[in-house]
Amino acid sequence: MKNLLPLLALLFIAGCSSGHDGNNTSTPSNGNSPQASSGDKPLVVFSQANSQDPWRKVFDATTKAEADKHAADFTYEAQDASGKSENQNNIIDTFMVKNPKVMLVSPNDLSVTKAVEKAFDKGVSVILLDRDISGEKYTCYIGGDNKQIGREAGKYVATKLNGKGTVLMIQGLANVTATKDRADGFMEVIKTFPGIKVIAGDDCSFQRKKARDYMESFLQKGEAIDCVYAHNDEMAIGARLAWDANPKGKAPLFVGIDACQKEVVDMIKSGKMDATFQYPTPGAMGIQVAAELLKGNKPKERRIILPTVLVDKASADKYLTDNPNLEK
Ligand code: FRU
Repeated sequence: MKNLLPLLALLFIAGCSSGHDGNNTSTPSNGNSPQASSGDKPLVVFSQANSQDPWRKVFDATTKAEADKHAADFTYEAQDASGKSENQNNIIDTFMVKNPKVMLVSPNDLSVTKAVEKAFDKGVSVILLDRDISGEKYTCYIGGDNKQIGREAGKYVATKLNGKGTVLMIQGLANVTATKDRADGFMEVIKTFPGIKVIAGDDCSFQRKKARDYMESFLQKGEAIDCVYAHNDEMAIGARLAWDANPKGKAPLFVGIDACQKEVVDMIKSGKMDATFQYPTPGAMGIQVAAELLKGNKPKERRIILPTVLVDKASADKYLTDNPNLEK
């Protein structure tokens, strides 16, 4: 993430007077001047899907740290929806009463689309982070390319399995774009390897405990697998812990996504996991885009896509050096 920030200077069109649909902070459709949002400073709010898992802890901390640098320019407020879409809908509606200029939203799932679009329709600049909504009413999206990450994972697994074997795919939260894209990208590649069979595992909601419980019951069925592909690292760790509690012969490969925790990189180094793909947290850039929007500068790209990187045994040490502030 840190090496992406200098790019920001190139990412903006200065002094634009309107967004893609006339929705912007210079001439907001709600009729307020950018300086007069809440008190004398404009208000930037952040609705986070949940603040409980490791990836989101990094996400929250980096967003706040960046917002602190802009304390003179705007007031920043964040709220955690604890993984509940109804909470997030209420939080967004409550934020709206405070008349924010910019709203950062990391949607819990697609069912928060309406609340987000309502905010956008009222003239708030909406920056979607990580997960998408189902409509087009937002100012800017910042996040990884989940489909591409799925494809990269597919290539990695197919190569490691020499084009032959059975993969258990443990799925993230249903009704979430990241889940669908990580599955679709993976399947797109795997379908070109007729020797690889994929078992569609349960929705384990991106949670370690759920994946551990699921893997425990899956292993009891005695079905042989050569690889676990989990839609995030927490679930890959959960599956590995279940395997370790009841190992049956040669361990399958374990592949996850996020690479935000030292625990995962250490597991890769010790051979407990095989690979993960970095899913950079988008909050710091979200704050920078918010700051620019408040100055009337719109991002050149409506969708800002953050790159991924493969972390495996060969790259683990370099990854730790390049990313010294991972979660424990
Ligand atoms: C956290 C998380 C991450 C994942 C992202 C996908 O809630 O599950 O682990 O990469 O959300 O939206």
